[in-house]
Amino acid sequence: MNYYKTLSKEALAAEKSALESAYAAACLAKLNLDMSRGKPSEEQLDLSRGLLDELSSTSELVIDGQNAGNYGCPEGLRVARQLFGELLGVNKDQVLVSGSSSLNLMFDVLSHGFVRGMQGESPWSKQSQAHRLRWLCPAPGYDRHFALSDYFGFENVAVTMRDTGPDMDAVEDLVKDPSVKGIWCVPRFSNPTGIVYSDEVVKRFAALKPAASDFRILWDNAYCVHAFYDNAPQVANIFEYVGTKDLVYSFASTSKITFAGAGIACIAASKHDLADVMVSTGIERVCSDKISQLAHALYLPDRTRIEAHMKQIAEVLRPKFSLVEEVLSRELGPLDIAQWTHPQGGYFVSFDGERGSAKEIVKLCKDAGLQLTNAGATWPGGFDAADTNIRIAPSYPSLEELSRALDLFVLCTKLQAARAALRAL
Ligand SMILES: Cc1ncc(COP(=O)(O)O)c(C=O)c1O
Repeated sequence: MNYYKTLSKEALAAEKSALESAYAAACLAKLNLDMSRGKPSEEQLDLSRGLLDELSSTSELVIDGQNAGNYGCPEGLRVARQLFGELLGVNKDQVLVSGSSSLNLMFDVLSHGFVRGMQGESPWSKQSQAHRLRWLCPAPGYDRHFALSDYFGFENVAVTMRDTGPDMDAVEDLVKDPSVKGIWCVPRFSNPTGIVYSDEVVKRFAALKPAASDFRILWDNAYCVHAFYDNAPQVANIFEYVGTKDLVYSFASTSKITFAGAGIACIAASKHDLADVMVSTGIERVCSDKISQLAHALYLPDRTRIEAHMKQIAEVLRPKFSLVEEVLSRELGPLDIAQWTHPQGGYFVSFDGERGSAKEIVKLCKDAGLQLTNAGATWPGGFDAADTNIRIAPSYPSLEELSRALDLFVLCTKLQAARAALRAL
């Protein structure tokens, strides 16, 4: 039971007044802390500096018979396709390596469906003239995914996120509607909950029978190798269950392996789906930056090397996530006013306060100098009906800054809860 609701009116007023004083003192400290986005820290980026030494003016630019410095290979260098193929569990022929951002490639896939249409189907732009098309958004989820489907005019439909993945009963029901054209998924260390989809959920996704033949699962495996522990849960390989069906576009990038926004990115899909989307990407560009692909393939030539590199990154991230867990459990656990996730990898912790608390907590933090992701951002349209969810992104601040940020965060959470309990009397 919410601790503040167990207090007498006098005790609660005294508690609230002590919290108000602590908050006023915190405001005077004029903090300037940022936990709003899942950015790698400087310390983490330093672990990838060796990548920059891979190439010099005397480097051989031809690898496996392909010249990284010239036009050609619009599907990407074979060595880079092989690398992502290993990460995503598909044959390299099913991989397109292009650009430096997976989000950009997700945009390309949606744009392809919108302008040209999936595999000869009527383009979504034309279909949407008759009626509004819909896109499924497991929530809480990644705000930039939701922004993308919203940008292309889809009605974003929230689907409840559980500990094992999206509510599959709801998904199976919703895809009976032919106006539903796709779903966002982050199967391992989901943003922001950090959960890993269970085998059953992956199998049910692979077995989906959507009414729309141009329905696609956008399987964003952004955190496929981003575990903090050796025994962290793995996610099943959806392509093993999907077989040759045209159902899944999967994505990954090295943004959180080497340099954010300056790495390499890929799409993996069935051969037909890959060839189909490449009709559009082939209009968009002659070929993409293969020099970066070459540098990455030299620096991290295979899955074993990537895993060794990720272990070093885990050394930087693990203490930060442990600190979040420690401070929240110690300060909020006994009060029973919030719940949060306990991810074993990825970049975020998902926090749920009492109903109607998130906006107020985020504002209190902001006014005292701590920037968090906007409350509601983890829901389609930025609208969290229960107003509970806050995304905590502990990767960027140093441990010392994080500690100060967390102290302030728990103080604001307590103050909000005490104020709300008093208002309710
Ligand atoms: C789930 C997810 N996908 C994609 C991205 C962005 O990836 P990229 O830098 O490859 O565009 C992020 C960044 O936070 C993310 O959390």
